[in-house]
Amino acid sequence: MRHFLTLKDFTKEEILDIVDIAISIKKDFLQGKSTPLMKDKILAMIFEKNSTRTRVSFEAGIYQLGGMGMFLSSKDIQLGRGEPIKDSARAIGSMVDMIMLRTYAQERLEEFAAYSPVPVISGLSDLFHPAQLITDYLTMIECGIYLQDRRYDNLHIATPKVAYIGDGNNMANSWLMLASKLGFDISIASPDGYMPDTKVLEDAMKFAQISGAKITITHSPKEAVQGSNVVTTDTWASMGQEDEKEERKKVFKDYCVNDDLMSLADKNAIFLHCFPAYRDQEVTDSVVEGHQSRVFKEAQNRLHAQKGIMVWLHQNRI
Ligand code: CP
Ligand code: NVA
Repeated sequence: MRHFLTLKDFTKEEILDIVDIAISIKKDFLQGKSTPLMKDKILAMIFEKNSTRTRVSFEAGIYQLGGMGMFLSSKDIQLGRGEPIKDSARAIGSMVDMIMLRTYAQERLEEFAAYSPVPVISGLSDLFHPAQLITDYLTMIECGIYLQDRRYDNLHIATPKVAYIGDGNNMANSWLMLASKLGFDISIASPDGYMPDTKVLEDAMKFAQISGAKITITHSPKEAVQGSNVVTTDTWASMGQEDEKEERKKVFKDYCVNDDLMSLADKNAIFLHCFPAYRDQEVTDSVVEGHQSRVFKEAQNRLHAQKGIMVWLHQNRI
């Protein structure tokens, strides 16, 4: 049985297959056709952290696939009172068909999956946010920025070069995984001490040797953004780092994506952000609201991308 905990566990072909399922389901959705590919299936959604997009997209998504979503806040269930993961995983997994978990340590997801009798999907951990990256590649494809391996209907403008500016967090780690698996260029600009995870970077370097991805790690946002097709960033203080907020504002003050920085990217470059965004910290309001921003297309694509993930897991179950 396969789980969706990190893109590290997926081949390039499998990642592209998930994206293709998402594209096909989105097409049907836009034409008003129903896609009951998970009829009567139940998705339990366990949140140990807050969420807007992940919750709404998984819950609406499973419903539109003919199934039903069950929202479980860790504040309300026994997991939040210290019930062992291995007990919660077996009990919940014995009654539903799939489980999504948003949590802190990646190890919690891994332990949950090890004991779960049904597929487990990461809804974000401190280390990765893989569902967001399926979404972001889907959004890139729709904007004509994709690798040549699979051609889509729209005009293809470039081999993607992505610039990620800011904290070397779960989003930066996930971009490294996506780029190194698929084979596109990624430049990450982060301050000293806030670089992506060392082990993730090592893994990404290994995958890049196979895929041909070019990975650049720098302290300079300008160097990273130069000529890129996608510019992206994320909050300076992730969930769980609330106490570091003020300190991080000082450390990251030169890492704001503003119009000047965007002007160094390719003239057709797009701006992406997983959201929630903190205006005038990691990005200015003018970039979020500007003509290169695709952030609301990206947010809406969570719905379609995650249908792709759920359907792929459902089709690949044994
Ligand atoms: N991007 C994302 O995962 O958003 P939420 O935290 O609102 O789910
Ligand atoms: N890095 C952010 C992403 C939120 C979707 C966090 O973990 O809080």
